[in-house]
Amino acid sequence: MFLQKISLANFKSYEYKSFEFSERVNCIVGENGTGKTNLLDAIYFLALTKSSISNQDALSISHEAEYMMVEGCFSMVDVRFSMFGNKVFEVERETEHQTEASVASNTEHLITISLQRGQKKAVLRDKKAYERISEHIGKFPVVMLSPNDTDVIRDGSEERRKFFDGVMAQLDSEYLENLLQYNRLLLQRNSLLKQFADRNYTDNLLLDVYSDPLVEVGLKLYKARNQFITEFLPIFKKHYSTLSDAREEVEMIYESEAGAENFAQVFRRNRQRDLAAQRTTIGSHKDDFIFEINGFTLRKFGSQGQQKSFVIALKLAQFEMLTKVKSFPPLLLLDDIFDKLDDRRIQQLINMMVDGTFSQVFITDARPERTHQLLDNLGVEVKYFEIKK
Ligand SMILES: Nc1ncnc2c1ncn2[C@@H]1O[C@H](COP(=O)(O)OP(=O)(O)OP(=O)(O)O)[C@@H](O)[C@H]1O
Ligand SMILES: [Mg+2]
Repeated sequence: MFLQKISLANFKSYEYKSFEFSERVNCIVGENGTGKTNLLDAIYFLALTKSSISNQDALSISHEAEYMMVEGCFSMVDVRFSMFGNKVFEVERETEHQTEASVASNTEHLITISLQRGQKKAVLRDKKAYERISEHIGKFPVVMLSPNDTDVIRDGSEERRKFFDGVMAQLDSEYLENLLQYNRLLLQRNSLLKQFADRNYTDNLLLDVYSDPLVEVGLKLYKARNQFITEFLPIFKKHYSTLSDAREEVEMIYESEAGAENFAQVFRRNRQRDLAAQRTTIGSHKDDFIFEINGFTLRKFGSQGQQKSFVIALKLAQFEMLTKVKSFPPLLLLDDIFDKLDDRRIQQLINMMVDGTFSQVFITDARPERTHQLLDNLGVEVKYFEIKK
């Protein structure tokens, strides 16, 4: 799969602009603040219907504008095999919205995402709206490496849950549906707890209307996260050991209250605490993933280089799992990585571009001469885009 072209209207710093991409390596160069990251973010938006930077969709609308639109055309052809004639992978399963014939013959998809200030965003595939936007997630998989990635190590558990939920949502649509349902139930239960406190009464039966399904869906998330980490960990360790020359032992431990012997009972016993706190104090929304290096917390004891290798290994493991599950590689967005990595790690990533592990890649760099030096003469098609103010 690759992104052929993208058109932006009032997306962040872009007024109206279109780009036609190479199916392999695309370098976005330009001075600081010209909109290189914004272009990567637009690609991310097209693939995942949200910004990689902010949770608030409206922040992606240009300051002066009332609406924004991102439109792009994905080809489902796997360019890694183009030497042997294009091998075509059609990724989606048949849906009620499309006839069998159109699925079989459709090797291109036009995705249009638009947003009017104060309204809900619209996501169209081939000019038809999805029944639910979540159906789009995972169809056009993407992995992004950015300078903020180490937040996942340094910040609280929410950042780690967000990361793993994002990884799993692209891999498994059932997981995404369960997660959305869990979040809805949690919101409803919390507002009920708040209401009880405000009005000074309690209705346990009414509370259970939300508690029981919350526990049920929470256990599904627990099982899925557990299963996922089991598969993810060996792949992650392999990448970490390649990046770091296998000098340290790394671990990732999934911690969840839902793993308790009889979680439903534990949850019920916690009711008084929930009522006092006016929110749900235990459950899957409190899960954490503990990162360790040589038996110690990575956040406290890992060096900067070790933390950097850790997050790159997380992303490479995500890339490998997506490639395996979808049978084609995701898009890879590399934001300013040449600034952050040493020569050996850069070389490892470049090797993966050349050997076909990576398919279509987007790289930003404020120093074009460095990118030319690293990427020209590799035998891989490289297209340059210079962004000016
Ligand atoms: N909603 C918005 N409307 C208008 N401009 C915006 C909006 N959001 C961000 N910008 C502008 O986009 C610019 C930053 O763009 P971007 O982060 O893509 O730069 P960059 O080329 O990646 O720079 P650097 O090399 O420093 O990483 C800033 O000038 C910022 O004000
Ligand atoms: Mg940038």
